Amino acid sequence: MNGQGTAKEITERLRQASDIVEVVSAYVSLKNAGGSFRGLCPFHNEKTPSFHVNPARQTFKCFGCGAGGDVFKFIQLRENVTFPEARVILANRAGIALEDRPSMAGPSDAPGKLDIERVNRWAAQWFTKQLASPAGEAARAYLERRGVTGESVVAFTLGFAPPGWDTFVSAARQQRISDKLLVAAGLVKPRDGGGYYDVFRNRLMFPIRDGMDRVVGFGGRTLDDDTAKYINSPQTALFDKSRCLFGVATAKDAFRERRSAILVEGYMDCLVAQQFGFRNTVATLGTALTADHVRLLSRYVDSVLLVFDSDEAGQKAADASLSLFLTEKLDVRLAHVPEGKDPADFLVLRGKEAFAEVLTSGVSALEFKWKQVMRRCRGQASQLDRRRAVEEFLGLLVRSADLGSFDPIQRGLILNQVGKLLAISPGEVERQIRILARRQTPVRAAGVAATEGGSGAFRTARMAYDDYDTAVRDLLSVMLNEPVYYDDVAGVFDPEMVRDPVLAEVARHFATMMRSEEEYSVAALISRFEAVEAAALITDLQEQGLRRGNSEATIRGALARLQQVKEHRRLNLLAAGLRGPGNRADAGNDGSAGQDAGSEDADTRSVLRAVEDAARRVSHFAANKHLAAPLTAGAEALSSQAE
Ligand code: UTP
Ligand code: MN
Repeated sequence: MNGQGTAKEITERLRQASDIVEVVSAYVSLKNAGGSFRGLCPFHNEKTPSFHVNPARQTFKCFGCGAGGDVFKFIQLRENVTFPEARVILANRAGIALEDRPSMAGPSDAPGKLDIERVNRWAAQWFTKQLASPAGEAARAYLERRGVTGESVVAFTLGFAPPGWDTFVSAARQQRISDKLLVAAGLVKPRDGGGYYDVFRNRLMFPIRDGMDRVVGFGGRTLDDDTAKYINSPQTALFDKSRCLFGVATAKDAFRERRSAILVEGYMDCLVAQQFGFRNTVATLGTALTADHVRLLSRYVDSVLLVFDSDEAGQKAADASLSLFLTEKLDVRLAHVPEGKDPADFLVLRGKEAFAEVLTSGVSALEFKWKQVMRRCRGQASQLDRRRAVEEFLGLLVRSADLGSFDPIQRGLILNQVGKLLAISPGEVERQIRILARRQTPVRAAGVAATEGGSGAFRTARMAYDDYDTAVRDLLSVMLNEPVYYDDVAGVFDPEMVRDPVLAEVARHFATMMRSEEEYSVAALISRFEAVEAAALITDLQEQGLRRGNSEATIRGALARLQQVKEHRRLNLLAAGLRGPGNRADAGNDGSAGQDAGSEDADTRSVLRAVEDAARRVSHFAANKHLAAPLTAGAEALSSQAE
């Protein structure tokens, strides 16, 4: 106790200082909807916002998964921590001292998230002090050369790690910070002959801060000619490079205002872009874009512009990142900086307007790919090259969830044009798309396409994308309430075929419970999980089932689809066995053989128009997705919105 007040008083002070709208906004973009705020729920996966925050009552509630509570509860659920830990997190955020702070690191137990956060925060401050000190002279000069202003240095809390091997270690020792903690945070390493040395030496320090403004790690740029241009913090309890984006802490307000993000490749690019007013810019940390990055962005924005240093880099990254975005239904565009410059240097040299032009030159995913295909096919590409380019394009079409946006005329145009490029019939193209669709996701099925009467592979690919998962979700929504149905489905209910990992876990545990002696109840099932996501999914499904009723029909429909998927899978395996590598030329089995791709300019333009048109409608759809009513999520809501 140190005269700050009792624990209860401090808890109240923390509550006062932690406005729930602000705290939640660190994790998701909220929209003001007449006095209450709304957004995508951070506890379960959803496409339309069911998550409500009430600023008057200082509470949150998700009508999708049922999660709810006050600001402490929010942190507990979101960070998966206890109440005392949630207090620490909010106290750090508000700069309030707690009654008795736990020591920097317990002598026995391994340092946890909170310990690492605290040491990182201290380290960031120490690096900042070094940058301002006489020792930081050269680093400051470097920043000036790169065009970084003093305001940016402050906004990004930049720092400087001095040369020498133990400047940092010694300073930390004086603060009585344990070596173990410093090692756990990745700031020092044990020396061969005993003792420890600084990991970051003579480097410009970029603290990596998350949406809650916590320093989760560091990137350090060399100021001499060290072969490692950047050193990044290692993976810790707090830091995972493949999940974090640099610049979120300063970009999140702009995310909320603009509902769009600019994604660049480097720390410096992100910092300079924000400095020039492109406040919604973030950067990956030298890793490829992952599904986690995209999911993180999807909670904040509706569209993302990827800006690459060069066309080649863009080409390379395009395919992988495009399908990631398409599955999250984020509108994605691509641009590259001309002249092989990176965004930071380009901005400093050419200024804000020139960069804004680069941004508007961004093209949609499908357009980007189509242009690439056309470029390759117009050159003296061999038949094989063409084939590969077109296949890539078709692959993208198949992977994308947007194929419903092509009407039959557009579809016909594309099939025709692609057929001409490959010198095969449109029917054959369609057949190939179907093959691609199956090859790319083995569990895809034609079940829904058949029942909806949508013909052709376009429809099939889109509808069947998550078919198995959807069927399992439907089954669980009934069985969680009426477990007797399990006997009817046990034969085809296979959790190992589920793609969504949380759903798979829930299905697995449910099946295990059914097969064991254990008495089943929803509560008992939930108690098998630690992850909040699983509990949320279970209550979500249970509620859905209750709301829908009609158990018998739901089970029958879902069962039929499961069986279809299984059958498809069997056929695919068969087909894969028959299909040797490159065993058929496929050329000219009808009248369209032998046409020259170079001479089809009118057709080319009309296909490009069709693709662009479809892409535009997709972005329109994405821009509107947050307008949907929260409780009526489902196919009807989506289709009426897409009009
Ligand atoms: P770049 O080499 O493009 O660096 O790497 P940069 O950010 O533009 O830096 P400047 O302009 O040369 O100062 C892009 C990103 O890749 C990661 C970093 O995150 C960097 O920002 N990277 C790069 C590393 O992690 N390690 C490296 O050695 C190099
Ligand atoms: Mn650079």
